[in-house]
Amino acid sequence: MSQSKVCLTVVAHPLVQHKLSLMRDRATSTAEFRRLLREISLLLAYEATRELPLEDSEIETPLESGAFPLLAGKKLCLVSILRAGNGILDGMLDLLPSARVGHIGIYRDPRTLQAIEYYLKLPEDLAERDVVLCDPMLATGNSAVAAISRLKELAARSIKFVCLVAAPEGVDKVSSIFPDVPIVAAALDRCLDEAGYIRPGLGDAGDRLFGTK
Ligand code: URA
Repeated sequence: MSQSKVCLTVVAHPLVQHKLSLMRDRATSTAEFRRLLREISLLLAYEATRELPLEDSEIETPLESGAFPLLAGKKLCLVSILRAGNGILDGMLDLLPSARVGHIGIYRDPRTLQAIEYYLKLPEDLAERDVVLCDPMLATGNSAVAAISRLKELAARSIKFVCLVAAPEGVDKVSSIFPDVPIVAAALDRCLDEAGYIRPGLGDAGDRLFGTK
């Protein structure tokens, strides 16, 4: 990986690592893959939100009153890069039920691997929201860069990128273009192959999630 400033957190928690290994297994069924992705996404959301600010609020317990920390009204927006990003939303929403949700449709041209946007639906008040951008696989980085560019154009207050598996090439690309966007991943794998798949990876995340192959 390049020496340019890389803001990557790999979540080493044993539960995350165990679940990811099961997801890598080609024998894991679609239903199991979906369930594991939901569970792991909740754990990744825990990491991605670790810096949310708190403020004290007066609360009465059954025994006395006191000042206790509550989230400081931070507005979050989860944005899924379609279609595989949708698999991350459910687990994240289990933990962050009030978050708004946006969708960006981007597909990879199989010949050039370039990112092409075909759909966009985001909350109108994006400038007042911190975005957690979700895509299970950070491969070439082209989709992530296209999505982050669009979110920045629309003045998102901050952006964090959450994925399951990252390739060094994708991390380098995102970090060199957007050094201000932290990346949270469950694993940093070895490399990309000539077809743009992450090795060892887990295959096509969308196909495994939706059972389309
Ligand atoms: N997208 C996937 O779903 N898998 C990869 O390995 C790379 C990109």
